[in-house]
Amino acid sequence: MTITDIDTPALIVDLAVMERNLARVAHYAAEHALRLRPHTKTHKSVMIGKRQLAGGAAGLTVAKVSEAEVMVEAGPEDLLVAFPVIGRSKLERLMRLAAKTNLTVALDSVFAARQLSDAARAAQVEVGVLAEVDVGLGRVGVAPGEELLHLAESLEKLPHLKLRGITFYPGHIKALSESGLRALDQLSELLRSILADFRRAGIETPIVSGGSTPTLFHSHEIDGLTEIRPGTYVFNDMNTVGCGACELEDCAAAILTTVVSTAHPGQMIVDGGSKTFSSDRLSASSEVTFGRVMEASGARFHKMNEEHGFIDLARAERTFDVGERVRVIPNHICVAVNLHERVYGVRGETVEEIWTVDARGKLQ
Ligand SMILES: Cc1ncc(COP(=O)(O)O)c(C=O)c1O
Repeated sequence: MTITDIDTPALIVDLAVMERNLARVAHYAAEHALRLRPHTKTHKSVMIGKRQLAGGAAGLTVAKVSEAEVMVEAGPEDLLVAFPVIGRSKLERLMRLAAKTNLTVALDSVFAARQLSDAARAAQVEVGVLAEVDVGLGRVGVAPGEELLHLAESLEKLPHLKLRGITFYPGHIKALSESGLRALDQLSELLRSILADFRRAGIETPIVSGGSTPTLFHSHEIDGLTEIRPGTYVFNDMNTVGCGACELEDCAAAILTTVVSTAHPGQMIVDGGSKTFSSDRLSASSEVTFGRVMEASGARFHKMNEEHGFIDLARAERTFDVGERVRVIPNHICVAVNLHERVYGVRGETVEEIWTVDARGKLQ
């Protein structure tokens, strides 16, 4: 099977680029003695989870219990649920996984911790926990200082929980501009003071887990960090290019589309819209584009309906005919992957593998 046999729209992955991305980060983590626990929310595929583990990842990360139920099939020795798990039914399902792997859960409230402790006691298992601290995103995580110490002390006391350290997500650092690099310095400073607080309180933090794709290759400069959880790096996307963490040639995934209409001069319509790409705009730019057209860098993918992609060709270096195929690199690959049932792994023109997006739509 070759690329021309693939029906569109389709998610295609250049295997050589993906393999290079995986190897580069595995090598970086090993070189700097950082544990690599990749976030699988980007690829959502057991097959890639297995490759990450075979390449040296110490474990895997998920956001949802249903993703954990899928990803446990990759055989991780260690699985981190980097999202507070609230509610009895989710906790009961999670406890069933504790028999299959070492589970760690990130949380930021004593409420969540008590529920987890009760569930672990009922299942007669021990679950690792990480106290989540907010380092600037303002999403989950308690404030550093007293609040964080209080959370950690409470976690230490709860039966059937084992406090393994702290976790944070530096999602507020989106670009490695001057201000992004300054924010990284501030993060380092903050972690130094958090870890000093913990030492004074006699609380051990063997795991200090953070690390996103934008900050990835600066992780070794963040004092005290022991573990990184990048997700997007496996494929990269236009946001990763925009933040300076990779080059265009490091983007492994693209959506293959067909030109279905050129009825309006200066415009082409492709067979993928918001149900194919997601509606995510670029995160660090006010420019309105929904992806990069690889066949014409001047083409502007500026508007979408559910199944139609509107591409303005006013500044494109070439014209297109109905029936031609174009590859578009999405802005945010994680949400795009979640919209597709399968992925076509290509090497040159050959389709070498087809895999399923196993955790697609796993939200609960
Ligand atoms: C808690 C957490 N950890 C790790 C990641 C991975 O970050 P990235 O996609 O930038 O690699 C995310 C991404 O949303 C996240 O929410």
